[in-house]
Amino acid sequence: MNRKIHVSVSILAEDFSILGENLKTIENAGGDSIHLDVIDGVFAPNITFGPVVIKGISKLCALPLHAHLMIKYPEKYLEDFIDAGCSQIYFHLESEGKPQNIINKIHGRKAKCGIVLNPDTSVDTVIPYLEKIDSILIMCVHPGFSGQEFIPEVLSKIEKIRENYPKLDIAVDGGINDETIDSVLNSGANVIIANSYVFSSKDRAKAVRRLKGLNE
Ligand code: DX5
Ligand code: ZN
Repeated sequence: MNRKIHVSVSILAEDFSILGENLKTIENAGGDSIHLDVIDGVFAPNITFGPVVIKGISKLCALPLHAHLMIKYPEKYLEDFIDAGCSQIYFHLESEGKPQNIINKIHGRKAKCGIVLNPDTSVDTVIPYLEKIDSILIMCVHPGFSGQEFIPEVLSKIEKIRENYPKLDIAVDGGINDETIDSVLNSGANVIIANSYVFSSKDRAKAVRRLKGLNE
């Protein structure tokens, strides 16, 4: 099947003193959305930014904003991220709270809802929710930092979901680059999240095209 590939660019490891420039870079390179990694230092070992900063980002950038909540209590804060301008909220199945309540709350605010699975979490845990969400995000590294190495064992999870859900958006996050992109696309992923590969490329537009599976 020929799927349209969506590229969402993360700014996690970039220089926030030139945030506006970096956001423009993503727009000019053909990125489809901005992936915002929100980490609370409890759910994952890093601390990043919250709704206040995202509200500022929404004024600097015309692309849709997607929040990836790596926080222990997503239900408590998710509306703040929607208020700040995020049109899609990803929460981890490993975080606290009842997944169905979180899904309802996100959809109740007319935002899209994605569930995230850590590399060690089995696909079976998410099956009861797959008909109820807009996308599933398969982590290809352990949450916390950009620039980690891709874990190839996650490919079978993508394949398993794609086999049964031909239309669901399947996102991948972590370690996606020139060498790993083909395997995730071939497994059935259609939303590609990347940080270091795009920003470390001299030609960022070319990097985004590569992530879309487009040849020169
Ligand atoms: C990791 C984050 C990722 C990260 C991706 O916790 O969820 O979004 O920024 O960075 P790269 O593409 O460099 O692996
Ligand atoms: Zn992320």
